[in-house]
Amino acid sequence: MPELKRLHAGHASAVLAFELANRSYFAGSISDRGDDYFARFTEKYEDLLAEQEAGICAFHVLVDEEGSVLGRFNLVDIEDHSAELGYRVAQHATGRGVATEAVREVCRLAAVHYGLHTLRAATAVQNVASQKVLTKAGFVPVGPAGPAQLGGKSGTWFQRDLLLQPDGVE
Ligand SMILES: CC(C)(COP(=O)(O)OP(=O)(O)OC[C@H]1O[C@@H](n2cnc3c(N)ncnc32)[C@H](O)[C@@H]1OP(=O)(O)O)[C@@H](O)C(=O)NCCC(=O)NCCS
Repeated sequence: MPELKRLHAGHASAVLAFELANRSYFAGSISDRGDDYFARFTEKYEDLLAEQEAGICAFHVLVDEEGSVLGRFNLVDIEDHSAELGYRVAQHATGRGVATEAVREVCRLAAVHYGLHTLRAATAVQNVASQKVLTKAGFVPVGPAGPAQLGGKSGTWFQRDLLLQPDGVE
């Protein structure tokens, strides 16, 4: 059973393998990370862990039984009980609800563990799969997203208010 885990130093090689194996797949719908990301991976990974330590971001990996990364689900720019959500799923694991389930779980963690009240996510017009994930996880469209957020594409900002109920997030 795959598990969503907070990113730590021990995930580095599995994260690199995930990013390399799916680089061209991801580049079909979101901005490529660039050659520099792969050339200086260790340094950049350490920067991420430092940002997480500082509470600016919270990174999560969905890891299978063998320790392979199936997806990444990140909360960035945490400020004023709000954050931006970003995610990506390994091509071989897509089309079976992995992103939807993990996004729902991250919403729960965001409220219960990180004390956030609102999450937002930008997705390109062409990225219908991502729009479906957000809608199924309770996000609603709130306005246009510009090319600056979406690597030159236009799209939509989605938002979800995290209503904390006595037994968790509604
Ligand atoms: C977008 C992404 C995260 C979806 O992951 P996933 O695990 O396949 O998502 P799910 O299976 O939970 O749901 C995908 C939904 O989109 C639908 N879908 C997939 N491709 C589609 C397409 N080309 N057109 C329309 N719908 C599509 C699926 O049928 C499913 O909807 P359903 O449950 O109503 O059938 C994954 O494709 C990915 O990582 N893409 C590259 C990175 C990316 O775009 N990240 C999001 C940035 S905003």
